[in-house]
Amino acid sequence: LELDLINAIGAATTVAEVEAVRVAALGKTGAISGLLKGMGAMSPEERREQGPVINGLRDRVTAAIGGKKAELEAAELDARLAAEHVDLTLPARPRRKGGVHPTMQVMDEMIAVFAGMGFAVAEGPDIEDDFHNFTALNFPPKHPAREMHDTFFLKPDPETGERKVLRTHTSPVQVRTMMSQQPPIRIIAPGRTFRKDSDATHTPMFHQIEGLVIGRDIHMGHLKTTLKEFVARFFELDDVDARFRPHHFPFTEPSAEMDIRCDRPKPENGGKLVLNQGDDWLEILGCGMVHPNVLRSCGIDPDQWQGFAFGMGVDRLAMLKYGVPDLRPMFEADVRWLAHYGFSA
Ligand code: PHE
Repeated sequence: LELDLINAIGAATTVAEVEAVRVAALGKTGAISGLLKGMGAMSPEERREQGPVINGLRDRVTAAIGGKKAELEAAELDARLAAEHVDLTLPARPRRKGGVHPTMQVMDEMIAVFAGMGFAVAEGPDIEDDFHNFTALNFPPKHPAREMHDTFFLKPDPETGERKVLRTHTSPVQVRTMMSQQPPIRIIAPGRTFRKDSDATHTPMFHQIEGLVIGRDIHMGHLKTTLKEFVARFFELDDVDARFRPHHFPFTEPSAEMDIRCDRPKPENGGKLVLNQGDDWLEILGCGMVHPNVLRSCGIDPDQWQGFAFGMGVDRLAMLKYGVPDLRPMFEADVRWLAHYGFSA
């Protein structure tokens, strides 16, 4: 019996097989359990003789089972460790990372600069009515200026016939702010704007930041200093060489466009735009003193309050700052393009 059991234990290749042998030998109805039970019926002499033999058998078989189990468990653990082995020295698999879109990054930079100059952020809806987008901004009715903006009109309201528009600029936020807030006012209004336009420097949807300052005795000098300070901080320069060129907007008088001196990208400059040198001028924004009619439309007395306003294209300034030559890919969501300009990996 002992030899059979020891052989069976030796032949076992899994913990489960060893367990089967243990049950056959030492379980309730096992062979050795039977022998142990049989001792009860023996005479004292027989028991004195057989007892040590049977107990010895049980002890050796128990020890053999324990030894074999430990051996197999160790082997099974080794196998698992080998199978689940991770080589920490292997190079990591590359992972795609998201990034902030260039326009949004530049928008955030601009908002940070203006916040540092004491401006609060105001917002308005993308879908505007004619009053906020045009009329209150001193666009005369039926004036070609309304067409000049290449406006996207929504379907007319079946009851009122009113045609809403996708706002063509962020200037309606000036109107909303002046109508809901008493001066003094110092806000910027970043947001999406829309015009039927598409070429290398125009997309049907683009972004603007509007600015509005209303106070007592605000004049052109405040406008110039504020905008030059903004441009210097945005391009991280000590000072900017700028000029204010007369222009026309219905909602400002006088109106101007701000140009900055630059050397256009050329091989000598490493293909980059260089500011504050050369004899080219680059238009970067529109601005002017808020027209008295606009103040009046918004319930502000032009004899008491004056102010200036400005508006600039965020995507255009992003192109300039980061040397992007074509505006359209900015809105095509091609990750290769974004990665090329370092905006995703
Ligand atoms: N709204 C003008 C535009 O979109 C820009 C502008 C804003 C000009 C404020 C003057 C004052 O072209």
